[in-house]
Amino acid sequence: MKTTAIFVLLLLKVITINSGYLGECPMIISRNYWGARSPTAIEYCIIPLKYVIVHHTFFKIFTWIYRDFTISAISSDGKVYEGVGWHKVGAHTKQFNTKSIGLAFIGNFTSKLPNRNQLRAAQIFLKCSLGLGEIDPRYKLLGARTISSTQSPGLALFHEIQTWEHFAMVP
Ligand SMILES: *[C@@H]1O[C@H](CO)[C@@H](O)[C@H](O)[C@H]1NC(C)=O
Repeated sequence: MKTTAIFVLLLLKVITINSGYLGECPMIISRNYWGARSPTAIEYCIIPLKYVIVHHTFFKIFTWIYRDFTISAISSDGKVYEGVGWHKVGAHTKQFNTKSIGLAFIGNFTSKLPNRNQLRAAQIFLKCSLGLGEIDPRYKLLGARTISSTQSPGLALFHEIQTWEHFAMVP
């Protein structure tokens, strides 16, 4: 047991050193902590990923909904909740699942924007993903509505992300 823990720590350390990223990352609340059930199957993505897909979601309590869902969700207090986890395939956008990180804002952003905490957490999350080599330096940031028939991430938020670096109207 102890040996395993040490091994895991060493492994984490090696990964950190290899990525060489010393910048800021958000505190990500692990799925174990927030009570997600285990994913039905774990499949790994090949990183770096080419896309970040922005969603919104009305659910505040999402224990089972997010079981296999997007990598992370950001609540109104700026907390980042882990979905399937780094470089694992989540079920959020069909054909893009293996190529993208899904980033969901918790709330309804049809006519209002996420608050400052949420927006800030998202920026840190993106910078961190880039720094860790999880996403490609030339990644494209898309709104979920661009690739599937949904209103997500809401019109107001969709307009907002158009001002962000890496935003793309088409994949
Ligand atoms: C989201 O907000 C819009 C505009 O405020 C409203 O019309 C819509 O019903 C809301 N949707 C949900 C599911 O709450």
